[in-house]
Amino acid sequence: MSDPGSPYPRSTGGPSPRVMEGWVSLRDVLADAQRRLATAGVASPETEAALLAAHVLGVPRSRLILQDRVPPETRTAYERLLGRRTARVPLQHLLGTAPFRHIEVSVGPGVFIPRPETEMLAVPALEALRALPADERLAVDLCTGSGALAIALALEAGETHMVGVEISATAAEWAQSNVERHGPALELCGSEVRIVATDAATCAEPGHPLHELAGRVSVVTSNPPYIPDGAVPRDPEVREHDPPIALYGGPDGLGVIRRLLPAAAALLRPGGLLVMEHADAQGEGAGEDGLPGLLRSWPDWQDVRDHLDLNRLPRYTTAIRVP
Ligand SMILES: C[S@@+](CC[C@H](N)C(=O)[O-])C[C@H]1O[C@@H](n2cnc3c(N)ncnc32)[C@H](O)[C@@H]1O
Repeated sequence: MSDPGSPYPRSTGGPSPRVMEGWVSLRDVLADAQRRLATAGVASPETEAALLAAHVLGVPRSRLILQDRVPPETRTAYERLLGRRTARVPLQHLLGTAPFRHIEVSVGPGVFIPRPETEMLAVPALEALRALPADERLAVDLCTGSGALAIALALEAGETHMVGVEISATAAEWAQSNVERHGPALELCGSEVRIVATDAATCAEPGHPLHELAGRVSVVTSNPPYIPDGAVPRDPEVREHDPPIALYGGPDGLGVIRRLLPAAAALLRPGGLLVMEHADAQGEGAGEDGLPGLLRSWPDWQDVRDHLDLNRLPRYTTAIRVP
């Protein structure tokens, strides 16, 4: 018990004034970070300043409000991250993870960062998988990257056998580590995800190890590279940090898609569903220069429909493999 006559303030249980030497107010740190991120052209400086601070402090963002002061070593770590973010290294590379639907996946150099618009592809794919008996829930995600869509689908549908196909050995390693990260949850819901590092365009050909899937797959999903070679993205995070093989699809952007569609048709069973993402300029309005037009020009597909994303932009096409 403290002496009521003592000239010293009663201890609050927090760090002593000596320990707090060099500590700075979190509010000041965040205000400074926001200003610097905004100057560097980062689109959501307030959110990102907070996410980086939560990361170095090792707390969820919602608990930052409980943090009053920042110790010097945390400030140093924060400065280091802030320096990289103002140089436009992607936030997800600094945090080491990216959110996708209800999961997080590990990401870093050499793998495409999954985007929110791709989350929509899961809606028709899930509807189709859930309508099937467990022994027919066989799906393939072509160009799987980090494996985000493949893993999220397998978890949400349950009792699903999913194969993620990826040409880049580095990206396939990220995908494999993400499958392991979600391994217990996948096992719990009776699903499995297998990652295969190969060119998706050749995976249904005779002699290929995945040829055994030909004509048996119920759902094929894909977010392939589709940016025209000349349309170099403006954001440095994309231009300098997403792998070129993940972005560019030849002179008109549809080069990889043209190679993938015969493989998708060969994998799907009659009546099976294709769900494929495209650029907003490659939708219904683009005629034969768009994905829906391309699918209609081939005899393999019926019931071709184009779909909008949350920004009301044409974003993905669904089609049924003709019986
Ligand atoms: C736009 S990224 C999408 C990744 C992931 N599906 C996603 O949405 O986050 C395209 C991916 O396709 C891969 N890719 C490109 N050409 C391929 C091919 N011929 N076969 C398999 N994967 C390919 C790239 O390496 C990259 O990981």
